[in-house]
Amino acid sequence: MMRTHIGISLDGFLASASGMPAWDFQPTFDGSGHGYPEFMAKVGAVAMGRTSFDQGLDDWLGAWPWGDKPIFVLTSRPLPGNAPPHGRGRAGGVEGLAERIRNAGIDGDVQLLGGAKTVRAFLDAGALDRLGIVVLPLLLHRGIPLFDTEPLSFSTDAWRESGGQRDASPPAAFELDSQQAFDDGSMHLVYRPKR
Ligand SMILES: NC(=O)c1ccc[n+]([C@@H]2O[C@H](COP(=O)([O-])OP(=O)(O)OC[C@H]3O[C@@H](n4cnc5c(N)ncnc54)[C@H](OP(=O)(O)O)[C@@H]3O)[C@@H](O)[C@H]2O)c1
Repeated sequence: MMRTHIGISLDGFLASASGMPAWDFQPTFDGSGHGYPEFMAKVGAVAMGRTSFDQGLDDWLGAWPWGDKPIFVLTSRPLPGNAPPHGRGRAGGVEGLAERIRNAGIDGDVQLLGGAKTVRAFLDAGALDRLGIVVLPLLLHRGIPLFDTEPLSFSTDAWRESGGQRDASPPAAFELDSQQAFDDGSMHLVYRPKR
């Protein structure tokens, strides 16, 4: 099953304007709480977008966090020469990568690490089984939003034109799978995308 465990700010950003993950702004975050160990205990492989891979690679090369677990990178370009042999790139798009992961005989869950573009692409392709987010009790105000949104101010003209009807495009819908509150005020929500 492909799952995320993403930290987002209360205002919906998974990273700050400089690209610092939202987790890093939460003083209580050190990877040993927020359901992370329980989540990782079931993970047999990791998939991520090229931007997140490139951002983390130097740190990870110092102490590779995933042992021998296969790493899949969603990218249109070859991985750099210093990527470890179990970092596999060039996926043929999100559908191609999803199929490759399904055929890889992974023992356990596949963590979709992020970032935002990659999570959205897997969601759009119907390839994400569980959207797990930890909503952190902080506001970033600016940054990389998990979802592509377009904030607007209320417009009387737009309201009148709509005739009070819902917008034409249906919203993506989710069912709540589980929820857990943590002592630091963060909230773990796991959603099942409706297909
Ligand atoms: N809070 C958290 O838990 C968390 C977790 C992970 C990451 N992050 C943060 O997320 C940020 C990066 O997110 P991001 O959205 O900019 O990048 P991303 O999702 O990590 O990577 C995007 C890249 O993936 C490749 N790609 C290939 N096919 C794609 C497709 N169909 N759709 C989308 N991408 C495709 C593209 O690279 P090519 O140019 O190679 O094609 C694209 O530029 C970083 O700041 C990171 O720290 C936060």
